[in-house]
Amino acid sequence: MRSRRDFLMAGAAASAFSVARVWGAKTTGSAFPYEEFETRIARRDFRDITKDVLPTPSMIVDLDLFERNIKRMADQAKSTGLNVRPHVKVHKSVDVARRQITQGAIGLTCATIAEAELFSGAGIKNVLWTKQPASVNNIQRAVALSKKDPTFMFVADDPLVVDWVEEAAAARNARLRIAVSVWAGMDRQGIENGKPAVELAQRIASSKRAQLEGFMAYTGTAPHTKTWAARRKRSGDDLAGSRETVAMAKRAGLPVNFVSGGSTGTYNIDHEFGLTELEAGSYVFMDTAYFAVGGKDDDKVYNDFKGSLTVLTTVDSKRHPNIVTTDYGNKAITRPTDQVKGMPWLEVGTQGAEYGALRWTEADRDLKLGDRVEIYCTNLDMSTNAFDRYYVARGDQIVDVWPIMGRTGAAQR
Ligand SMILES: Cc1ncc(COP(=O)(O)O)c(C=O)c1O
Repeated sequence: MRSRRDFLMAGAAASAFSVARVWGAKTTGSAFPYEEFETRIARRDFRDITKDVLPTPSMIVDLDLFERNIKRMADQAKSTGLNVRPHVKVHKSVDVARRQITQGAIGLTCATIAEAELFSGAGIKNVLWTKQPASVNNIQRAVALSKKDPTFMFVADDPLVVDWVEEAAAARNARLRIAVSVWAGMDRQGIENGKPAVELAQRIASSKRAQLEGFMAYTGTAPHTKTWAARRKRSGDDLAGSRETVAMAKRAGLPVNFVSGGSTGTYNIDHEFGLTELEAGSYVFMDTAYFAVGGKDDDKVYNDFKGSLTVLTTVDSKRHPNIVTTDYGNKAITRPTDQVKGMPWLEVGTQGAEYGALRWTEADRDLKLGDRVEIYCTNLDMSTNAFDRYYVARGDQIVDVWPIMGRTGAAQR
């Protein structure tokens, strides 16, 4: 029942309030005028913006846990003498990157030239692009960015790429900073270790247009290897070749400013195997693929970093026992391996582009129409790519909104 005061208030505030009020007790507590949502966000006025008024599905960052994760990585790296150059493909957010830099990160690693352009353009120095330019588009952009931002670096695993970028740099009177990407257990990139890698390093070092920065050895198969002991073994095996390469390069008198690699899963391992810096990314938010790899003290759960990112979703249909429909569907990258925060009895499923499912078997459990739950995603890279912004929360209160780099237009690729 609406009180007389409710009526008067609703009248005074016009229709903006009334929609919320007709739903009864569920929404009468919230007098948030939804029409003002975007303008308030634009002027960073988060008054009354709590999780319950957000559109869904939406990405939520728990700021306390996020800050703890960044600090933990920074402290661990400091204690083992490693630098942190975090990988931003995981979050694609300048706001997140700035907080990583504030906690001591020496730069960033990026997966695409578009990411490098964005983060460098935001004033962040020492961006390392962890792929090589192999198209006219990417070569020109890598050269242009090198000219604009002399701290920008990229990797190469092929002498042909060095020829291409050298020629493009000569045409634009640019200077390049290049690291050699060496094989470290994953066949997707990286020149063979030993002689081929050292020859490529020599080729770069002898170029009039380029400066050799060092090496990248990303052990892509180690990070998600289950149990810390098995992960340590894998990382050690995968990095054996790069250690030999680096030693050879040093013996040949080549400069090695850094050996970059590593991950969230191996952050407390890789200092043993010759890396000088960590490219870890997922630790800022974490996902269920990482929860399952086990930690140094617990083989089952990887608890070093906390799940600080969730997807908020609404139960929007409930017509059958033990299942509800949500708005967390395929477009939001639902996966059966996702987990519901604080409700381990729920199983996540998909029912279509904009339809998700939550199922349960326990008889004494239930969800109601209109309930909201938060879900940990399975793969951050994929999921964050499907959203435009993070709603940053302290408890239920939204305290900030961070844009996620867009997905449309040439400049975003
Ligand atoms: C080149 C590179 N470096 C580092 C990482 C480590 O990231 P994470 O800590 O998220 O496992 C990745 C992840 O895929 C990567 O591709």
